[in-house]
Amino acid sequence: MLMEACPTMARYRIAVIPGDGIGPEVMEACLHVLRALEEAYGDLSLEFIELEAGDGVKAERGVALPEETLRGITSADAALFAAAGETAGEVIIPIRRRLDLYANVRPAKTYPGVPGAREGVDLIIVRENTEGLYVGVEGRGPDWGVSMRVTTLKASERIAHYAFKLAEEMGRRKVTAVHKANVLKATCGLFLEACRRVAEDYPGIEYEEMLVDTCALKLASKPEDFDILLTPNLFGDILSDEAAALTGGLGMAPSGNIGDRYGVFEPVHGSAPDIAGRGIANPMAMILSAAMMLRWLGEGEAADALEKAVSKYLWRGPLTPDLGGDAGTMDVALGVARLIREAF
Ligand code: NAI
Ligand code: MG
Repeated sequence: MLMEACPTMARYRIAVIPGDGIGPEVMEACLHVLRALEEAYGDLSLEFIELEAGDGVKAERGVALPEETLRGITSADAALFAAAGETAGEVIIPIRRRLDLYANVRPAKTYPGVPGAREGVDLIIVRENTEGLYVGVEGRGPDWGVSMRVTTLKASERIAHYAFKLAEEMGRRKVTAVHKANVLKATCGLFLEACRRVAEDYPGIEYEEMLVDTCALKLASKPEDFDILLTPNLFGDILSDEAAALTGGLGMAPSGNIGDRYGVFEPVHGSAPDIAGRGIANPMAMILSAAMMLRWLGEGEAADALEKAVSKYLWRGPLTPDLGGDAGTMDVALGVARLIREAF
């Protein structure tokens, strides 16, 4: 009935993977907020399809990422993944590889009111997500180990195009390619060649290059100078945790794994076994990942409304213990949902 009354309403099927530890807790909070947004906003209809992955399902069925979970993701319009525990590598890495989610996008933004957050940080790390040191080609003897690092022109150009296009879409002014080409001439050298070539296609966006060690230092000393950081796989993994620390920690860090067809959105954090089951995990990273998902689906207005409610909530509190408060996970969800309803 409602659908007929509103033929323009956008409808999406969202695959939902709560996973382990605090995963189900932050996912429950996130879905509560999304349902409030769906109701208040009116132009959006979300159908959630819950799927299994992680330690729990591996203990039961011997496999951390069942085939039907992968099929569920591919049959949905987008996916939300919370966190897996020890089996994280058996879950998220195969998802990224098999769905060709070549861009790992990790924004780091300061929200006023968050204790410990540095002022003026608003950067996005665009990390190559399919190769580099994470290809899993390794050798091991009793007293030696080798990990192969693979860099291809195709993957490097593809991620560079992604970063520059994102800069254009988001109205960003600069892309910084991060490398260690002075030592890793073959792999980082090729990566830089690709970035330089692609940069020429985007004359409106400033392009610079920076050694990864210099970048780590500058991220700590002058993070406000960065806009979009374009990185190989390992460097992006490390720098994004450093960037998360600037904005209030892992409880504040969202991300998206994005390809040409599929998008899987997840907080940067893991299953946090040290606080799991206590209802005190910060759900903001999960909620902000859902906002990224809405933007990727083309629902920029709904994403803005969600981010605005998060921003307002963080200013007023009460916050979870990782941010120095004593609120619970669902207190935050209820508070954000209330602000969403008030805004419409
Ligand atoms: P972690 O991210 O789970 O936790 C690191 C620290 O940050 C802990 O002290 C934790 O309490 C805190 N923390 C994380 N998220 C938080 C939140 N939302 N609110 C408040 N505090 C939060 O990383 P850790 O401890 O290295 O790994 C724990 C498990 O998670 C491991 O089994 C690991 O394999 C898995 N993991 C899974 C990931 C994924 O599913 N994508 C990513 C990283 C780790
Ligand atoms: Mg990591």
